[in-house]
Amino acid sequence: MANENLSKAKNAKNDEFYTQYEDIQREINAYLEYNPDVFRGKTVLLPCDDPEWSNFTKFFAQNFESLGLRKLISTSFAHKSKNFKGCYQLSLFESESPQFDESKTQIHGKIFTLTRDSDKSGNIDIDDLEWEYLEGDGDFRSDEVKTLRDEADIIITNPPFSLFREFIAWIVEADKKFVIIGNQNAITYKEVFPLIKGNQIWLGNRFNQRINGKNMTFGVPDDYPMIGTETEYGDNGKKYISVAGTGWFTNLDHGRRHQPLSLMTMEDNIKFSKHKEIKEYGYQKYDNYDAIEVPFTDAIPSDYDGVMGVPISFLPKYCPEQFEILGMCENLDLYGLKTRVYTTQECQERYFEIFGKKGTYDLNASGVVNGNKVYQRILIKKKV
Ligand SMILES: C[S@@+](CC[C@H](N)C(=O)[O-])C[C@H]1O[C@@H](n2cnc3c(N)ncnc32)[C@H](O)[C@@H]1O
Repeated sequence: MANENLSKAKNAKNDEFYTQYEDIQREINAYLEYNPDVFRGKTVLLPCDDPEWSNFTKFFAQNFESLGLRKLISTSFAHKSKNFKGCYQLSLFESESPQFDESKTQIHGKIFTLTRDSDKSGNIDIDDLEWEYLEGDGDFRSDEVKTLRDEADIIITNPPFSLFREFIAWIVEADKKFVIIGNQNAITYKEVFPLIKGNQIWLGNRFNQRINGKNMTFGVPDDYPMIGTETEYGDNGKKYISVAGTGWFTNLDHGRRHQPLSLMTMEDNIKFSKHKEIKEYGYQKYDNYDAIEVPFTDAIPSDYDGVMGVPISFLPKYCPEQFEILGMCENLDLYGLKTRVYTTQECQERYFEIFGKKGTYDLNASGVVNGNKVYQRILIKKKV
């Protein structure tokens, strides 16, 4: 299972998932379509990268002029500091450079910068990248990389999965624009959800979407274990892994985010919905929220003015002009929306009723319909 793969990758802190060129190009094009000048005059930082191999560096260096960039900076993380080491591949690019240093190559990060036509070819492109070793290992949390973050206008990368929380906090504390890859598990993180609720960050153009029948697919190192079903060898003999629930998080605007969902009224849903649950039960009220349970995004009634609990998979389709996000069903009632808090005794009694043995049914963790917990829900309301 792709999700198991991801959690294994997380647990093992195997963070070496490399992004494909077409995925970067497709995503960046969505921001350009919305605002052709979005990168003009900007300094773009690509941290947690591996500039010699990375498609992020390749894409932005090749498109430096057409995007109108002022400066491109890309940094890599030292091989010796990586959680998944694999075998070390020294590139010809590095070993043939005059600045190559055997004592530094595995323990220092590198910085690549692009600002000028250094080879005097007549244009600024990938051949003009200049590089040196960083003082440290290129950890994004180091003062050295923080200084680069502060210099940048836009930060773009696929950060290590295991450090996603820290990475997003690192961007937000510096109040930077960004486009980064992450998994939908991150949506409910306490560092992330309040920002989504406040429309300070949102999901990118592609999120948890299959293209050509596949989830977002990443290259992995040659010696990476091929666990799970969504693994394959490419035509080039390289290893690839597809990961469900993955996509882009950003605070750059794009057009899809402003396309409202096309929805039926409540009455029509109950008559014509393709979901038998809706036809059979209609829209049920939660026992612990003043809201209705909407188990499918395409069954959100267009004419309901109250609060609705919708699946997390609604978020890639969320249009801030159409709906407002009020909160999430969760234990702490951070958003002050609960109408009932269950006692420990009630949770234990309900567990016994359902399972016939001792235990605690954590009713406060989610929306409850007729005494049963439903899946994780986001609470939304139609905009007037
Ligand atoms: C998911 S991979 C993505 C690599 C590249 N950005 C891409 O998309 O092709 C994340 C990279 O971050 C590196 N990394 C892990 N921990 C890091 C840290 N604390 N600081 C900077 N980079 C780190 C990993 O070694 C890995 O190369």
